[in-house]
Amino acid sequence: MHKGVLLITGASSGIGAATARAASREGYKLVLAARSNDKLTALAQELGPENVLTCEMDVTNMEQQHAMVEQALETFGRLDAVFANAGQGGSPGGFSSADHATWREMILTNIYGVGLMLTGP
Ligand SMILES: NC(=O)c1ccc[n+]([C@@H]2O[C@H](COP(=O)([O-])OP(=O)(O)OC[C@H]3O[C@@H](n4cnc5c(N)ncnc54)[C@H](OP(=O)(O)O)[C@@H]3O)[C@@H](O)[C@H]2O)c1
Repeated sequence: MHKGVLLITGASSGIGAATARAASREGYKLVLAARSNDKLTALAQELGPENVLTCEMDVTNMEQQHAMVEQALETFGRLDAVFANAGQGGSPGGFSSADHATWREMILTNIYGVGLMLTGP
């Protein structure tokens, strides 16, 4: 019996991928989302594809967020927890040395993207 279904955004690297590995060891089924499908597919192969749904998506896109949740429910029948982890850290010089396009991407990803996740279908 699995422990539940956990959806992780930003699962293709860093903290999200590490959380996916830890949750897999604990017996969770996983929905792994990010823009880099190749990295998600490799992680799913590592963890056991039968327990993982990968979803190539951008958290700033509402339609893609809704489709992800619908696909997760179709695949596993339930969603128990969400880790809204996808985010942009900005530029190496920090927020004040970044240009406007970088600020926009950070704000859309880190704030708007999480808001869409919280208010999903
Ligand atoms: N590491 C730290 O010290 C630290 C400190 C404070 C806060 N944080 C926050 O913690 C989170 C994880 O950090 P990390 O160090 O693991 O960063 P990371 O390795 O850069 O991982 C960020 C993840 O977010 C995904 N992502 C970025 N933009 C996305 C978008 N528009 N749509 C979907 N996925 C997107 C990336 O995947 P794709 O590029 O494949 O989409 C990647 O999987 C981030 O939100 C970061 O800002 C980290």
